[in-house]
Amino acid sequence: MAEAVSLSISDNIAVVTIDSPPVNAMAQNVRAGLKQAFTDLKGRKDVKAVVIGCKGRTFVAGADIGEFDTGIAAPGYHEVLGLIEDCAFPVVAAVHGTALGGGMEITLASHYRVAHEAARFGLPELTLGIIPGAGGTQRLPRLIPLEAAIDLMLSSKPMPAAKAQELGLVDAVVTGDIIEGGIAFARELAARGAAPRRTRDQAVRGAENAAELFAAKRAQVAKTMRNRQSPLALLDAVEGAVKLPFDEGLKAESAISDKLVPATEARALRHLFFADREVRRIPGLAANVKARPVTRVGIVGAGTMGGGISMCYANAGVPVTLLDAKQEALDRGMATIRKNYERSVSRGSLKQEQLEQRMQLITPTLDYAALGSADLVIEAVFENMALKKEIFAKLDKVVRKGAIIGTNTSTLDIDEIAAVTGRPEDVVGLHFFSPANVMQLLEIVHAKRTSPDVLVTALETAKQIKKTGVVAKVCYGFIGNRMMDPYAREAEHCLLEGATPEQVDGALQNFGMAMGILAVFDMAGVDIGYLTRLERKHLLPDDPSFYRPDTMLNERGWLGQKAGRGYYRYDSARKRTPDPEVIELLWEEGKRLGIERRQPGEQEILERCLYSMINEGARLLEEGIALRASDIDVVYTSGYGFPRYRGGPMFYADSVGLKKIYDRILEFRSTLDPQYWTPAPLLEKLALAGSSFAAWQAGRKN
Ligand code: CAA
Repeated sequence: MAEAVSLSISDNIAVVTIDSPPVNAMAQNVRAGLKQAFTDLKGRKDVKAVVIGCKGRTFVAGADIGEFDTGIAAPGYHEVLGLIEDCAFPVVAAVHGTALGGGMEITLASHYRVAHEAARFGLPELTLGIIPGAGGTQRLPRLIPLEAAIDLMLSSKPMPAAKAQELGLVDAVVTGDIIEGGIAFARELAARGAAPRRTRDQAVRGAENAAELFAAKRAQVAKTMRNRQSPLALLDAVEGAVKLPFDEGLKAESAISDKLVPATEARALRHLFFADREVRRIPGLAANVKARPVTRVGIVGAGTMGGGISMCYANAGVPVTLLDAKQEALDRGMATIRKNYERSVSRGSLKQEQLEQRMQLITPTLDYAALGSADLVIEAVFENMALKKEIFAKLDKVVRKGAIIGTNTSTLDIDEIAAVTGRPEDVVGLHFFSPANVMQLLEIVHAKRTSPDVLVTALETAKQIKKTGVVAKVCYGFIGNRMMDPYAREAEHCLLEGATPEQVDGALQNFGMAMGILAVFDMAGVDIGYLTRLERKHLLPDDPSFYRPDTMLNERGWLGQKAGRGYYRYDSARKRTPDPEVIELLWEEGKRLGIERRQPGEQEILERCLYSMINEGARLLEEGIALRASDIDVVYTSGYGFPRYRGGPMFYADSVGLKKIYDRILEFRSTLDPQYWTPAPLLEKLALAGSSFAAWQAGRKN
C-alpha cells in the first residue's frame, strides 16, 4: 500500500489514515492508497464500520492542483470515491482543519460525517476556474438544500462545522481528538447495526422551484462574475443533479469539468495559486536565515496610511504605538480608527468587545522615546524626502538596536532615506496600499543595504497581518506604480484624442479591471499623481500632452470625489455621472495641442493601456526590480484590481502571445508618439523567439 494512506483495524472498526503533508492533497499516491485500503476492506468479516481521517494540520485540502497541468494519473477520483461509497460497511469521514474540493468530495462519498468543532467544509473550485469534478455538484445538493449547496459553491467560502451540521451535512460535531471522535461515532453505528447511507441514493433536497432558482442564480452570476465561464458551467452541472439520474449527472459533471481544466481561465487561476505562494521564496537567500520576532510595532504618522497600518497590527493582536507630531493629528487619527472599527461593528463583522480590545492595543504618543521598545517601526508620513530623512534620523536615535525601520514611501529612493541612519541594513521599504487595513498587497522594497534577515522578517510580518508581501528592488514606483505610469498615461491621452472618460473606463472595466483608472483617480484624489509629478518635473518627458488632463483638472481644483467633480461629476452620495464640460475641455485641449482626433475604440484603448504596462513589466524583469514575472502578476491582482481570471498582466501577455503584443507595439510606434513605444529588449527577445514570460521564468529557475 502507498505509504500516504494506512489501514488499521481494531475492535471491528477500520481506520483509514491519510498522511501526506503539508495539506493531505489528494495526489495520485493518496488516491492509490485509498483505492488499496478500500479494496482490502472488501469482504472483511472483522469490520463493522470504517473511519477516514487525516494526520497533520488538516483533512484533505483538495485535489493536487499541480496535477491539473500534468494530467490526472490512475486511479481517478471517481474510481476511488466510488469504492468509498460502495463500501459494504458504514464509512465515517472524521474531519478536522479544512475539507476542501476533492477533500470535501471524500466526505460526500462517505456515508456519515463527524467534524471537529473548528473544522470547515468548502468547494472552492471556482477560485481555480473549475467546478467540483469528483461528484461534488451531484452529491452536495443531495445532502443540504439545493440553494445552500449552490451558494456554497458560488461563494467558494468554506462553512464552519456548526453551520454544516445545521444544514444536515455533518452528523456530529466533536471536541478533542477527531480520529477518536470518528471512532466513537463509528462504534455507535456498529452497535445499532446501521447500514451504509449512500448519498447517491438520496433525492436532491429543496428542488421544488429549481427552474426559478437556476434562472435567478444565472442572472446573479452574469452580473457579479462577468467574463467568466466556470460559474455558469457550475450551475449547468448542478442542474444536472436535479434533472438527471445520479450516474448520468456525474458523467455530465465530468464532461463540463474536462472542458474547464485546460481553459485559459483555469490556467490563469492555477498560475496565481502558485504565484501567490512563490512570492515568499527569495532566490539566493540561505535557508537558515531566520526572521526577527515582531511583537511590538511603532507607527510614525497618524494619517490615513498610518491609521490603516495600525489597524492591521491591532487586528493581528500586536500592540502598536502610534506617533504623530501634533496632538490634534493624533486625536483625529485615533478617532478615524475607531470610526472604521465602528463601521465593521455596525456591519456585523466585528463585535463591540473586539473593537475595544483592538483600540486598547493602539497607544497614541507624541514622544519618540515611546518607540524605543518596538521591534518594527514603520514611517508613514507625507511623501517628502526632507521630512522622511528628518524622521529617520530621529528614529535612529531612539529605536533599539536590532529593531527594523520600515518606510511606507511609494516613490522615494529608500537607499537615500536609509543612508541617514547608522544602520541601513535594518531599513526596508514597506509599501502599503490604501486603505491599508483592507488592501491585500504589501510591496516589500529591498534596498541596497537591507540585510537578508530583515527581508525575511518583512515577508513574515506580511503574513502576520494577512497580507501578500511581494519583494521589489528600489526604483521609482517599484513594481506597481511604475507599471501604472504608462497605463494611465495612455488612458489620459485617449481623452485628448476624443474618447470620453466613460469610454476609457468602460473599456478597462469590460476587460475586468475592478475600476476604470480615471474613476480610481477621482476616488484617490486627482492631485496625488499630479503632486508626485511636480516633484519629478525634471525627469518627465518633454511632451506637453503628458498627463495633461490630470494637470488641467488640478489647475481647476477639480480633484475628484472630494471636490464633487474630477473626470466625472459626483452628487452628495458620490454617485458619478459624465461631465460634458470636462469632455469638451479635454477635446479642445487635444485640438490646441495638435493631436489628431481619432476617437480610439474599445480595443485600441485596452491594447494601449495594457501593452504599455506589459512592456514596462518586461523592463522591470530585465532590471531585476521584480524577481519573477509571476510576482508582477501577484502585485497587479492583489493590489491593482487586475482580474484574477486573466492571471495578471504578464500571464495575460503570454496568453495573448508576445509576438502579437510586440507587433502591435511596433504599430503604435508608427502611429502614436514613438518615444513611448519602444519594445523592451526582453519582450522583443522573447517575442521573436516565440517564447513567453513563463518560459523565461522557468528557465531562470533551472
Ligand atoms: N494542491 C497542491 N498543493 C497545495 C494544495 C493543493 N490543493 N493546497 C495547498 N498546497 C500547498 C501550497 O502550495 C503550499 O506549498 P508551499 O509551502 O510549497 O508553498 C503548501 O501546500 C501549504 O499551503 P498554504 O501555504 O496555502 O497553507 P495554509 O495553511 O495557509 O492554507 C489551505 C492551507 C487552506 C489548505 C490552502 O492551502 C488552500 O486553500 N489550498 C487550496 C484548496 C483548494 O483550492 N482545494 C480545491 C482543489 S480543486 C479540487 O479539489 C477539484 C476536485 O474537484 C477534485
